[in-house]
Amino acid sequence: MPSPPSSPPPASRAGPAPGACIELRGLRKEYRLGEETVHALAGVDLTVDYGEHVAIVGPSGSGKSTLLQLLGCLDTPTSGTYVLDRDEVGRLSESELAEVRNRKIGFVFQGFHLLPRATALRNVELPLVYAGVNANERRDRAARVLERVGLADRMNHRPDQLSGGQRQRVAVARALVTEPAMLLADEPTGNLDTKTGAEVLDLFDELRSPERALVMVTHDAALAGRALRLVALRDGVIEFDGDPSESPLQVLHA
Ligand SMILES: Nc1ncnc2c1ncn2[C@@H]1O[C@H](COP(=O)(O)OP(=O)(O)OP(=O)(O)O)[C@@H](O)[C@H]1O
Ligand SMILES: [Mg+2]
Repeated sequence: MPSPPSSPPPASRAGPAPGACIELRGLRKEYRLGEETVHALAGVDLTVDYGEHVAIVGPSGSGKSTLLQLLGCLDTPTSGTYVLDRDEVGRLSESELAEVRNRKIGFVFQGFHLLPRATALRNVELPLVYAGVNANERRDRAARVLERVGLADRMNHRPDQLSGGQRQRVAVARALVTEPAMLLADEPTGNLDTKTGAEVLDLFDELRSPERALVMVTHDAALAGRALRLVALRDGVIEFDGDPSESPLQVLHA
C-alpha cells in the first residue's frame, strides 16, 4: 500500500527563533559637555541569542546604563547599528519605534516603578492597554502572568500592600505580559535584601524562554556570578565576555 504523502511538520512558535535576538555593531554613544566629549560607549559589538541570559557588570561610569538605554530604544546611538528581533532600530519611524518598545521590550527597574494606586492586576494590564488589547483578554492575560510569578492570591493588592519581593514580581509580570523578545533589567535586586534578590533571580531563571533574551545590569558580584554569560564594560568598551567562572576577579568585583 502506498504510504501517504508526507507533510511538512507544522509551523510552531516553540523552540528558538532563528538568528540573534540582539545584534550590536560598532555602537558608540558620545555626550557633548561644552568643549568636552564623553565617550560613554566607545564601540560595542555584542550578539545575544534568543534564550540567553546575560549579566552586565562594570565600574561606575563604564557605560552600563547607557547601553541599557540604547537597548531599550529610549535613546539613539551616535553611530553604529542595532538589530532587535530582526528590526534594524535605526531605520524605524517614531511610531514603529513606539510599537517596538511596547511589544518587543519588557523593562524591570530597581525601584519597581509601579502605579501606587493601582492593584497588581491593573499594573500588569497596563502595557496591554497601550497595545490596544480588549478588556477581557487583558484581565485574563494579566491574571495568568501573575499566577506564573506566584502572585495568584495577591492580584487585588496595591503596591503598598505587598512586600518588596512581591512588588518586583509584579514588575516582572508587567514586563512579561506582552511576551517581549527581550527583557531588560536595571539592578532588579538593588532595593531587595540578599535572600529576596536571589529569589527574584530564581524567578528570571524559571521564566527563561527560548524565545526571549534577558539582559540584566547588576552591581552584585554574587548575582553576576550566577549568570551563564557575563559581559564586563570598562570605559565604554567590553573588556570581558564569557563564562563568569573564567572572568578575572576584578571584573566581578569592579
Ligand atoms: N546625559 C549625559 N551627559 C553627559 N555625560 C553622560 C550622560 N549620561 C552619562 N554620561 C557619562 O557617560 C559615562 C557612562 O555613564 P553610565 O550612566 O552609562 O555609567 P554606568 O556604568 O551606568 O555607571 P553607574 O554604575 O554609576 O550607574 C559616564 O562617564 C557618565 O558621566
Ligand atoms: Mg548606571
